[in-house]
Amino acid sequence: MELPAALNEKHRRQADDFRNRLVKMARHYRRWPTRQQTDCFRLYDRDIPNIPLAIDRYGDCLHIAVYEKPDAESTPRRETWLAFLTQLAGETLGTPPENIFVKRRRRQLEASQYERQGEQRRELVVTESGLKFLVNLSDYLDTGLFLDHRVTRSLVRAEAAGTRFLNLFAYTGAFTVYAAAGGAAATTTVDLSNTYLAWAERNLQLNRMDGPQHRRVRDDARKFLEYHPPRPSYDLAVVDPPTFSRSKKLEYDWDIQRDHVDLLNRLLRLMTPRGVVYFSTNFRRFKLQTDELRGAEAREISRQTVPPDFRERRIHRCWRLVKT
Ligand SMILES: C[S@@+](CC[C@H](N)C(=O)[O-])C[C@H]1O[C@@H](n2cnc3c(N)ncnc32)[C@H](O)[C@@H]1O
Repeated sequence: MELPAALNEKHRRQADDFRNRLVKMARHYRRWPTRQQTDCFRLYDRDIPNIPLAIDRYGDCLHIAVYEKPDAESTPRRETWLAFLTQLAGETLGTPPENIFVKRRRRQLEASQYERQGEQRRELVVTESGLKFLVNLSDYLDTGLFLDHRVTRSLVRAEAAGTRFLNLFAYTGAFTVYAAAGGAAATTTVDLSNTYLAWAERNLQLNRMDGPQHRRVRDDARKFLEYHPPRPSYDLAVVDPPTFSRSKKLEYDWDIQRDHVDLLNRLLRLMTPRGVVYFSTNFRRFKLQTDELRGAEAREISRQTVPPDFRERRIHRCWRLVKT
């Protein structure tokens, strides 16, 4: 591909490195769809300084996130550079332009992160570990499936047999699908958003898991726990809250650092003895207040749960809590 006139020798060298990296990763993941039954994974994760992209493959599409500093200026040269890189990625990976979706990511309050941003409805069904998930690559900043929790989801599936499973802040219910696939006796999927609960229902249906034992509840996670009958009701749970959440549906602002102890203690009261809670956050500066948790042993397992295709090892942090 010819380098646009506005770009220089330094750009050319970086573009060459970028192309080589993509070729290498594409080769590395060539057998994943058949061997791992997974056709969605991260191909490029800000590997080259000055090329701040995260490129994910979803089936035959590419989802490209451009990471921008909060104060980054959009100069014509930078736009040319980004457009060139996007085109280069498509060409190198054999993906036509209509199957490439580019999103700009600025550091922002997560409240707006989950809002709809478009109406193109480019939905497709992808496969992860043999399970099916509906993703929408065009209309939201996120796609409906957070790829960095692939390993965590597998841990849940491995422990789910015969359990009553609770998914708080469930988003599109990917953890619920895994729990059901692992043989959970019953699942409860809680989210504040009807849109995401409907999406979770479609994900369950896609995997033929739409029996009455799979319950969906539109509620604030905290309220759900507060008004829950006060008896041990769950053997396995996932809690993956946003860092902050501000919603018209909420009487308060959710702040994970401030509110996690109260939430987890309320949840622990509803867990059966030796019940397991997977708790995760994307908040880098998060500190789990272990001393204030009542009746649980907590172990951080982030090193195990961040998948190998994520070079950014701080993408999430994850703890396994066992009710004592
Ligand atoms: C970080 S995502 C969860 C990711 C999900 N666990 C997964 O792995 O796909 C945040 C989700 O929390 C929901 N949410 C935000 N505030 C909430 C609240 N107070 N109670 C319940 N759900 C909430 C949002 O609607 C969104 O679906």
